[in-house]
Amino acid sequence: MELTIERATKLQTKPNWSDLTFGTTFTDHMFVMDYEVGKGWYDARIMPYQDLPLSPAAVVLHYGQTVFEGLKAYKDDAEEIFLFRPDENMKRMNDSCERLCMPTFDGQFVIEAMKQLIEIEQDWVPEVDGMALYIRPVMYATEAHLGVSPSKQYRFIILLSPVGSYYAEGINPVKIAVESQFVRAVKGGTGAAKTAGNYAAALKAQEVAEKEGYSQVLWLDGREQKYIEEVGAMNVFFKIDGKIVTPELNGSILPGITRKSVLQLLRHWEMDVEERRLSIDELLEAAKNGTLEEAFGTGTAAVISPIGELFYKGEKTVINNNEIGPVAKKIYDTITGIQSGDVEDPFGWRVQV
Ligand code: PLP
Ligand code: COI
Repeated sequence: MELTIERATKLQTKPNWSDLTFGTTFTDHMFVMDYEVGKGWYDARIMPYQDLPLSPAAVVLHYGQTVFEGLKAYKDDAEEIFLFRPDENMKRMNDSCERLCMPTFDGQFVIEAMKQLIEIEQDWVPEVDGMALYIRPVMYATEAHLGVSPSKQYRFIILLSPVGSYYAEGINPVKIAVESQFVRAVKGGTGAAKTAGNYAAALKAQEVAEKEGYSQVLWLDGREQKYIEEVGAMNVFFKIDGKIVTPELNGSILPGITRKSVLQLLRHWEMDVEERRLSIDELLEAAKNGTLEEAFGTGTAAVISPIGELFYKGEKTVINNNEIGPVAKKIYDTITGIQSGDVEDPFGWRVQV
């Protein structure tokens, strides 16, 4: 497929990078392509960033047929721009499409289009440590049709947004509330897909948690509310009695690309790693008997985020004196080092734009 490019005639003045709030500033251009059953994907284009028309009857508005991704572009000291494992995001997005009965697409084509878009917007990639250009691919159902069936038309867009930390805490430990009333996802549901409904379902619990001073919610499984799943925007890891434990992928957890990378790193370092079911009772017991050494979350937006406190059923549990632990620190330094080009990349994770 051909990619056409229409340049914006008026460019914005770039903000001070230090003034950015996550996900509120967008660059001058975006990628768009359309799909129709019988025709396939067509009209791939890079165009000036603008509002796009949508029928009030569009399937996405009524039945939530939409999926998205999140990845980042980083500038190294030589001002070269790199993506981190973009093929993994394309694969996960296609998996999400399958789950939501949406059309799949050629991931390699989209990566090439993404690279061209980023090249046009190269001055929007902050060259500051800890900052990056966040890339948000999103696909949504555009057919005007009120019957409940998969849409026959879709739009795929890619937005770019320069960002710093996702959490106000930065690399400092976050406080997380363990949710005991609501659930995010159930077995057989859409938890493993990156689709809007999972995030909408999570808002209520997050609102309550924030009012009580917690950054986000730690979800328990949807059936028994007993086993740890993940946090709103990150997967979780714990160091218990010398071993690193993370919940196994069970169909309701998002298969994080940072999670996968962290597991690869830990195994490369020959550390003891377990992907298994972990109950909240086991975790709190480990905290009580002093064997819970560290906790941290992993995600593209959140990077590596130490968890300093958990709040569950009225009780607070402080972890590692609310400080970042040595494993989280080593992983943070290595992952961000590979992403920014300061550390060698033995796994071939960086992809040059
Ligand atoms: N879990 C949820 C619910 C997320 O939204 C994210 C972020 O994308 C993650 C986990 C971490 O995934 P990744 O490391 O691929 O960014
Ligand atoms: C991510 O891309 O890391 C996300 O979790 C998306 C988030 C901002 C909802």
